[in-house]
Amino acid sequence: MLFPFNPVCQGKFFPYRRISKNMISGKRILEHGKLRHESGALVPFHMRLLKQPDMDQMTTLRDEIEASMTEWDLLLPTPDYVLEKGLDDSGMSCGVFTGDRLVGLRSVYFPRRLDTDHIGKQADIAANELDSVAELKLSLVAPEYRGNGLQKRMTAHLFDQIKQRGMLFKYYMAIVSPKNVPSMSEKFSFRMKISKIIIKNNNYVRFLFTKNMVEHGTVPLQSTVYAKNRDFEFQSDLLQNGYNGYEMRRGQANMCDILYAK
Ligand SMILES: CC(C)(COP(=O)(O)OP(=O)(O)OC[C@H]1O[C@@H](n2cnc3c(N)ncnc32)[C@H](O)[C@@H]1OP(=O)(O)O)[C@@H](O)C(=O)NCCC(=O)NCCS
Repeated sequence: MLFPFNPVCQGKFFPYRRISKNMISGKRILEHGKLRHESGALVPFHMRLLKQPDMDQMTTLRDEIEASMTEWDLLLPTPDYVLEKGLDDSGMSCGVFTGDRLVGLRSVYFPRRLDTDHIGKQADIAANELDSVAELKLSLVAPEYRGNGLQKRMTAHLFDQIKQRGMLFKYYMAIVSPKNVPSMSEKFSFRMKISKIIIKNNNYVRFLFTKNMVEHGTVPLQSTVYAKNRDFEFQSDLLQNGYNGYEMRRGQANMCDILYAK
């Protein structure tokens, strides 16, 4: 039996115009168009890679979003050094602007094998493969611009940039709260799968998502089963028995069913 994967972010998430030659203030624009504001208004935006001078805007967006968080279990506080890592050689960040205001950002990191907090070490990746790991790290969208699929769109651009620069990674990984339905939806749409459940900061249960770039696009499956996203005992059993989480079926609020298969 072949498992029918989600299409990789086709159709509705990418109604954008890619205009690689366009520039604003000397910076190359990855995408522009209009975003729907929560009021219903359509607001012009542009998307570009972020650089060091954008750091002030990044911390402002982070502060605004952290101040509005009602549930810390969804997103742990992000220190400045984590934002910085997305701006130097250790990573890359994409930002969405309405006028001069940063309203969304997404970072990918390229951890080094000696990093003690290397995500690959939590996923039991062999030591000689740790330099082949990229981590999808932080994504933030201002509440009034959510619903435009910006997280997925920014991630797609970062993948494009990585490809254009000829960077090759065997694994893409991410750590996601089981309650963060938009973030899980993003990972599944890029064909990442839940490969492990971990405990972060000694307290918070998290899914570890992995995409192995050398694996074939479709997986032959013998059996499939649905698990509630917060039923960690059942999901741990499934993972220990060779299952991985491949897709989700949305429920109410932050609930969903995850399709596990092997
Ligand atoms: C996570 C975040 C970046 C996503 O923003 P976004 O790209 O605007 O996401 P959208 O609102 O367009 O939603 C994406 C998908 O999740 C769904 N979704 C959003 N909120 C949801 C919720 N509470 N419950 C169920 N589904 C939800 C949307 O319907 C959409 O589904 P689709 O992909 O099938 O169309 C944004 O919510 C955010 O900044 N949250 C706070 C910070 C955070 O948690 N970051 C992630 C961890 S680093």
